[in-house]
Amino acid sequence: MKLHLREMMPSDVGPVAAIEACLNDEPWSEQLFRGEFDVDPTTRHWIVAELDGRLVGFGGMMFVGDDAHLMNLGVDPTHQRRGIARSLVSALFLQAVGRRATGITLEVRVGNTAARSLYAAFGLAPVGTRPGYYADGEDALILWVHDVQGHEFATRLGEAA
Ligand SMILES: CC(C)(COP(=O)(O)OP(=O)(O)OC[C@H]1O[C@@H](n2cnc3c(N)ncnc32)[C@H](O)[C@@H]1OP(=O)(O)O)[C@@H](O)C(=O)NCCC(=O)NCCS
Repeated sequence: MKLHLREMMPSDVGPVAAIEACLNDEPWSEQLFRGEFDVDPTTRHWIVAELDGRLVGFGGMMFVGDDAHLMNLGVDPTHQRRGIARSLVSALFLQAVGRRATGITLEVRVGNTAARSLYAAFGLAPVGTRPGYYADGEDALILWVHDVQGHEFATRLGEAA
């Protein structure tokens, strides 16, 4: 089976929101995803992963100043543990490098060991917490990688890809 990554289009919003709804108790709404197409495109990069033409994953970044912020990432539960998230994150982070970001940051649930392990492979490390960040009261861990333009990050990106 062939994995294909491409930019998200407005017509992808339905399938993307359907995957998101399977993954989160407080999912992004279809409207929220759609709104991403109304903002300045230089501040966003959303991509999707297709397996044999079927949309199986998505991810998006926001660019603010010198930093890139991973806003959301998800893989269809029936297609997880096949390296799809790793491919999506690699592509998003490469985009951050190309746009001359110096840092990449994101929030993740403290208890989301799957995502934390994924991000650790890219060198993202905890720099703090946001207590009670999520509606159910769980804390968010703030992860950051600095020096995105440096050698070490390029090596990690190459190894993780
Ligand atoms: C987190 C998520 C995106 C991972 O997607 P995936 O395609 O299954 O991940 P990959 O197959 O690319 O895995 C890459 C690495 O992530 C980690 N990982 C992924 N799933 C894991 C799991 N269930 N348990 C532990 N580690 C896991 C592993 O380190 C894995 O590397 P390995 O396979 O060599 O062990 C997916 O589980 C998901 O959609 N979760 C719900 C939404 C979410 O948490 N998004 C992130 C919000 S910050």
